[in-house]
Amino acid sequence: MKRTLGVCYYPEHWPEDQWVKDAERMVKAGLKWVRIGEFAWSRYEPVEGIYDFDWLDRAIDVLGTAGLNVVLGTPTATPPIWMIEKHPDMLAVDENGDPRKFGSRRHYCFSHEGYKNECRKIVTAMAERYGKNPYIAAWQTDNEYACHDTTVSYSDAARFAFQNWCEKRYGTTSALNEAWGNIFWSMEYSRFDQIDLPNLTVTEPNPSHVLAFKRFSSDQVVAFNKVQTEILRMHTDVDLIHNYMGREMSFDHYDVGADLDIASWDSYPIGFLSDRLEGSVEHKSRFLRQGDPDMQAFHHDIYRAVGRGRWWIMEQQPGPVNWAPYNPAPLPGMARLWAWEAFAHGAETVCYFRWRQAPFAQEQMHAGLLRPDDKDAPALAEALQVAHEIEQIPNVDIGNAPVGLVFDWASSWAWDAQPQGADFDYFRLTFAAYRALRRAGLSVDILPPDTSDLSTYKMVLAPGLLKISDPLRAALKTYDGTALFGPRTDTKTDELSIPTPMGPNIPNLDTTIAFTESMPPSEALDLEGCGTIKHWIEALEGDAEVSEATADGRPVIVSNGATHYLSGWPDEQAFDRIIRGLCATAGVEITPVTDGLRIRDTKTHRFVFNYAPEDAEYNGITLPAAGVYWTELK
Ligand code: GAL
Repeated sequence: MKRTLGVCYYPEHWPEDQWVKDAERMVKAGLKWVRIGEFAWSRYEPVEGIYDFDWLDRAIDVLGTAGLNVVLGTPTATPPIWMIEKHPDMLAVDENGDPRKFGSRRHYCFSHEGYKNECRKIVTAMAERYGKNPYIAAWQTDNEYACHDTTVSYSDAARFAFQNWCEKRYGTTSALNEAWGNIFWSMEYSRFDQIDLPNLTVTEPNPSHVLAFKRFSSDQVVAFNKVQTEILRMHTDVDLIHNYMGREMSFDHYDVGADLDIASWDSYPIGFLSDRLEGSVEHKSRFLRQGDPDMQAFHHDIYRAVGRGRWWIMEQQPGPVNWAPYNPAPLPGMARLWAWEAFAHGAETVCYFRWRQAPFAQEQMHAGLLRPDDKDAPALAEALQVAHEIEQIPNVDIGNAPVGLVFDWASSWAWDAQPQGADFDYFRLTFAAYRALRRAGLSVDILPPDTSDLSTYKMVLAPGLLKISDPLRAALKTYDGTALFGPRTDTKTDELSIPTPMGPNIPNLDTTIAFTESMPPSEALDLEGCGTIKHWIEALEGDAEVSEATADGRPVIVSNGATHYLSGWPDEQAFDRIIRGLCATAGVEITPVTDGLRIRDTKTHRFVFNYAPEDAEYNGITLPAAGVYWTELK
């Protein structure tokens, strides 16, 4: 498969006579794609019903005739002011009941039917005009669903829609009362229109109610996206894409992805390290200018799964961003490394964000490939280098990884609804497992929770999974590889109550959680082997063999053959030891790496990346800081 580079561009930010020069310069920089249009509604429709697409016709023409493929974005993340005047109640409402006002972006509630209709109109107008345009090679729906915490809204529109959603899911209020356990504290309902949203309650709301609301909120995003894909599909045959975010757990990306052709995500490694990741001061300082060595890879693998194999980077950080608490510049070479890492995980295209730094408004301190004065910014040369390199390297065949890791949005909602320990976070737990696999030099495929075929994997992990789905359970029955579950896997019903018999209900494993403890960050339980258990430990009973215990004899791993359940949250050292021990028995070959060195194997190539801020050795080869190395696998 041919890999390509691209860039995000805002023709409406620049005088028209600059467009031709910009397009020529993009082509000279080796870029093949340009994404435009996703925030320009106030120029497409300055006044309600009066469209002005002439300038966009010309912009597309300039970019297309220069040889660029255009990704056209629908502008529904930025409704103009007249829209808010027309539909004042379309604004999302925050948890305190306050509307989230106009003046930035994403100021809409997913449940507002009036706004959804307005979206239908603008998307139809654009699809009719550009659906067959030869330069439009893909469409992007909206922009970063959920960004700025916008999935959930406590508006009247959301409340009505939630009541309908509950009626559809449960049928009768008595079924809902039963499913949620509403006899507790006299929370029973007799009509669906009595059900409110779970905010502003005196103390915690019923976790089943919260989980239902999170499921509903996710479904609203899916429905909103589908409105657009259905219209676009009537007018175009090119690929439909959405640009997802990093560590965004508020909606089910598999569900949105099912209506799209390609998944893409927006990768800001340095911003994420600073504002979106747990980590010691030392870790954050060591990777300050490179980003966490596993965060990008984890998302690449997640979005490869969401896109059913087809995925892009729609926005790649090129220099300092504006939105994190602190915004250092990347080490020289990182804008190249990040792109190569994405390609090594199967990305078809990597687009840098953005072409020229804007001299105005919110993102004026956010770097681009060009400076606001039109001079080259440092990342431009690195993009050009990547463009040359992808021409040289033969096609990379991605293949399957030896290890599968189940990743599931609904599990995150469940544990957020009832954490039971302040720092139990599903993303953090699965990422801890992923990191341990990567420190063993392993490549990983992310598996959706309804995976029904495990046959290509030597090892499968499913930490913290709310429910083992029926298809996964069926696949596990005949699976002869190594499987590691827990902590917390299959310990609740789908409605978030304790099942009878009590969990975990793991195929072929006789173990039950008698009770669960969570612990403050200062506490740790020593293990018999090296390392400790932190945050969380379940007291296990049953006949399964105890294959690992705490120093004071509490079961931590119980096993039956190659099926294992882990009852606690291992620290880094313990996770490394556990994973490597399992690999040894599962016949999974490992290549332990230290510090910032990371390996990604495809079917045809091994890629090695150096995230460390100084030289690192791999197999007798010295990789400089931000170095990338690849070799063909025989
Ligand atoms: C993304 C967003 C872009 C831009 C960028 C800045 O989240 O999609 O529009 O704001 O961040 O880093």
